[in-house]
Amino acid sequence: MNIGVFASGRGSNFQAILNAIQRGILPARVTLLLSNKSDAGALEIARSNGIPTIHLSQKQFPDEESFAAKMLNVLRGHDVHLIALAGYLKKIPTVVVRAYRNKILNIHPALLPLFGGPGMYGHHVHEAVIASGMKVSGATVHLVDEEYDRGLIVLQRSVPVEEHDTAETLAAKVLTIEHEIYPQAIKAFVENRVLIKERSVWIH
Ligand code: GRF
Repeated sequence: MNIGVFASGRGSNFQAILNAIQRGILPARVTLLLSNKSDAGALEIARSNGIPTIHLSQKQFPDEESFAAKMLNVLRGHDVHLIALAGYLKKIPTVVVRAYRNKILNIHPALLPLFGGPGMYGHHVHEAVIASGMKVSGATVHLVDEEYDRGLIVLQRSVPVEEHDTAETLAAKVLTIEHEIYPQAIKAFVENRVLIKERSVWIH
């Protein structure tokens, strides 16, 4: 199965996906790394692994329609079957969500449906968790639909929030489990072990 990874930043989750492929754990290929940021670290990781890259941003297009058409074109041109968002901070155009229904995954650094939605990214998430007094946080892999962080949940794992935790220490703990559960969730899709039924996701 061919995977297209979308990333806006450093790309440590992208690297975790590549590691799983290289270790033979994840039977897939990454055929495209798409970034809306020309200076994203993820682009560098792709280049050094010989993976095709594209810098694609809404700003390069007069409207969403032409942007979305180009995105679909690029995805088809690289024969992408599954899209993995890995720190991609932009909304996926509706026509792309429709064309890849149940085939777009995202990783979020909290236990959705808590601490998700517009503005809830990066350190904002962990600061909100600490401020709430919650004793547990974690990471969530979910399907992407038309709204931010609202698609069906595929896989979650929790981490304790300890007395001494700051947003930075919590982010580091959560990131470690992100790197474990994202390749696991993608593997389930690649191996066709996912059943989506009545707004539930079953992995067998
Ligand atoms: C991760 O915390 C992920 O959950 C969120 O964005 C961050 C991306 O980090 N969606 P990286 O670029 O994969 O290192």
